[in-house]
Amino acid sequence: IFKIVEFPTQGHKRCKLCEQETLEPISTEVQGTIPTWINGNLLRNGPGKFEFGNTHYNHWFDGMAMLHQFKIEEGRVTYKSRFLQSDAFKKNSERDRIMVSEFGTLAMPDPCKNFFQRFLSPIYFLITDSTDNASVSFVKYKGDYYVSTETNFMHKVDPESLESVEKVDWSKFIAVNGATAHPHYDPDGTTYNMGNSYGTRNLSAIYNIIKVPPERTEATDTLQGAKVLCSIVPANKSCPSYYHSFAMSENYVVFIEQPIKMDLLKIVTCKLRGKPLSEGIFWDPKQETVFHLIDKHTGQVISVKYYTKALSNFHQINAFEEDGFLMLDICASDDGQAINNYLIQNLRKSGDALDEVSVKLRTVFPRRFVLPLSVTMDTPTGQNLNTRPSSTATCVKISKDKVLCQHEDLHGDDLHEYGGLEFPQINYSRYNTRQYRYFYGCGFRHLVGDSLLKMDLKDKSLKVWYQRGLYPSEPVFVPSPDAVDEDDGVILSVVLTPTQVTLLFHNIIYDRAAGP
Ligand SMILES: *[C@@H]1O[C@H](CO)[C@@H](O)[C@H](O)[C@H]1NC(C)=O
Ligand SMILES: *[C@@H]1O[C@H](CO)[C@@H](O)[C@H](O)[C@H]1NC(C)=O
Ligand SMILES: *[C@@H]1O[C@H](CO)[C@@H](O)[C@H](O)[C@H]1NC(C)=O
Ligand SMILES: *[C@@H]1O[C@H](CO)[C@@H](O)[C@H](O)[C@H]1NC(C)=O
Ligand SMILES: [Fe+2]
Repeated sequence: IFKIVEFPTQGHKRCKLCEQETLEPISTEVQGTIPTWINGNLLRNGPGKFEFGNTHYNHWFDGMAMLHQFKIEEGRVTYKSRFLQSDAFKKNSERDRIMVSEFGTLAMPDPCKNFFQRFLSPIYFLITDSTDNASVSFVKYKGDYYVSTETNFMHKVDPESLESVEKVDWSKFIAVNGATAHPHYDPDGTTYNMGNSYGTRNLSAIYNIIKVPPERTEATDTLQGAKVLCSIVPANKSCPSYYHSFAMSENYVVFIEQPIKMDLLKIVTCKLRGKPLSEGIFWDPKQETVFHLIDKHTGQVISVKYYTKALSNFHQINAFEEDGFLMLDICASDDGQAINNYLIQNLRKSGDALDEVSVKLRTVFPRRFVLPLSVTMDTPTGQNLNTRPSSTATCVKISKDKVLCQHEDLHGDDLHEYGGLEFPQINYSRYNTRQYRYFYGCGFRHLVGDSLLKMDLKDKSLKVWYQRGLYPSEPVFVPSPDAVDEDDGVILSVVLTPTQVTLLFHNIIYDRAAGP
């Protein structure tokens, strides 16, 4: 454990370090011993500044991006941070109020620009400047670090200085508006992501899978060579699904079309109607969830569709193929109303009020779907096709090209006690697309993560780290140098001790230092 000495204590209204840059590295107080083999930067990107003047940001995705760097070296740790100098940040600082509005906030100059912006490119031309504050996560393309948001823009950043090196517009390279903050990587560095494109005439959307080649030919390269691997037509083109990420196995990209829908017409007209954008986003539990499989090599969309009851899903754990099945492990909830529950007003509540809020939130659990890969004309209907040993998931062909799936819980009863599991992490480079045994995540008993969890899939047993009043963020697994076992290593997590919860970190990258 190391502590940042300047971290605020009782009495402070808000976390000072979260709202102010710390440009010069400060030292930290280390308790216990940090293994000397951990050398590198732990990079965090999360919303930092939530308030400019008197204007509040409502949605917890919406804070201005703050880049945090914890440099771990020889058992010592220094910390520094920097606001991403996005155009939105500059503008807000100058005027000291929010000039670029965001999801969920009404009575702003322009309520139509938001977190879900990539679904709205047709109106980019109608609205003046789109936001680029990039508060979502670090991603890597062609070996470079980008701070990605769900808008068209990404910032290429220097992981050492945390400075923005370049602002990159996706749409200059491919006709796709934005991409998720959770790409997938092949071992050679080929990157896959997803984004939408729009028909402007009658407001329709299609989903696209994007492929970015691994090699960087010029030093100034950004997304050159990116291409659309394939497109998928939404169940209803004027109401595409919201998606936060997707899954990838060795041969397939798996896209989950969930019944969190975006009514494009409502979204486009929200400004006229004086409504917040969140009005155009709705959870429709009457609709099923559809799993689409795309062949990574040919770009072909597999004609067989896999269905399950309505679920909402933000993060995938892993996906791998074995014995003719594709195991799809995701964090899912039966309730999709949650999106509007993350308003910052809720986070500002404390004590009993906060508990009350967390009760209303969806609980997210790890689940496995087993998808049979060779469903043909000859495959019998009406019977469970899952022949995997000791798996309780079911998959039943109900008609040509339609398979109905039911999940298996990837946890025991004890997980309920910790509020479910979100922000799943595995040892990605070694085990994504492969049979694996462990995953890590945060328990969400109190709206924000308040425990760190480790799941052992061998017997679905749970290991828990919990200390009252401490709020850990998404765990990152760092293997020990000569690790043989899958779980030989340490978990890094930024843990907050707030007097009032105002900050949620999301998405960490551990950037291993070169050399020993
Ligand atoms: C900041 O980025 C988030 C996430 O992309 C977006 O929802 C929000 O609108 C942006 N806010 C501002 C003020 O630019
Ligand atoms: C408009 O919608 C119709 C019916 O869904 C479709 O056939 C047509 O291709 C769409 N046009 C454009 C420009 O998207
Ligand atoms: C698509 O969604 C819109 C908006 O909810 C609805 O009016 C329309 O009927 C839907 N179309 C189909 C084919 O379901
Ligand atoms: C995954 O584990 C293997 C072996 O334990 C290790 O060599 C590799 O670096 C790990 N990768 C990550 C990203 O943790
Ligand atoms: Fe995420």
